Amino acid sequence: MMNKYVIGGNWKMNLGITQSISTAEEMIKKLKNVKNTEIFIAPSYTSLVDLGELFKGTNIHLAAQNMSEYDSGAYTGEVSAGMIKSTGSTYVIIGHSERRTLFGENNSVLSRKAHLAIEAGLKVIFCCGEVLPERETGKHFEVVRKQLSEGIFDFNAMATEDIVIAYEPVWAIGTGLTATPDQAQEMHSYIRSLIEKKYGKKVSDAMSILYGGSCKPSNAAEIFAKPDVDGGLIGGASLTVEDFCAIVDSV
Ligand code: PGA
Repeated sequence: MMNKYVIGGNWKMNLGITQSISTAEEMIKKLKNVKNTEIFIAPSYTSLVDLGELFKGTNIHLAAQNMSEYDSGAYTGEVSAGMIKSTGSTYVIIGHSERRTLFGENNSVLSRKAHLAIEAGLKVIFCCGEVLPERETGKHFEVVRKQLSEGIFDFNAMATEDIVIAYEPVWAIGTGLTATPDQAQEMHSYIRSLIEKKYGKKVSDAMSILYGGSCKPSNAAEIFAKPDVDGGLIGGASLTVEDFCAIVDSV
């Protein structure tokens, strides 16, 4: 059974193999005594194998940032769920807003990915979140509801361990703007209510719902203190060992 509290670092397209290894080595040392929080790091594809070796036997899990919507075959440049699993990855991030907006991934593509990932034995970190005009016009709840219902609500049953949800308001990603703790709580509790309606209270109570978007040591504790916020998905601040460790410590 995994910890309900989860902190993940999404390194995006940063850090080559050498830097990934040295950053990971430092994190392993600094975080080795953390017991109450599930930690994962998502490096680029090219560092998965090396970090998979490094993280073996440690309390840090490996995650991929993306995966193919296809199983195998003639899909030049793609990486399948099974290949990711074979690197020692526990998790795969699906539906990050950068994948949705810059690479045109829609909810039906993301749903296919979620199914393939779980079939391959990976846990899915499923991202959702609205863009600024959607929040400004009061559509944010509806947008997130649609992303979840079209992305992960077509499973017959859901094992809580299979999915972690990351709410990442797109206007807060990499911008320095964060949702206020109350804005995060409001959306997280709404997300939990949707999960409960679809998969039942047992699943929704146990589900980890992470906040992401300009999380840093100075604001993490306040956001994580909210009852429906179960940790965070950290972009920029996860590239700095000190900042990432401070965020893990603020759970
Ligand atoms: P950020 O990114 O922490 O740099 O805002 C978060 C994310 O995109 O997961």
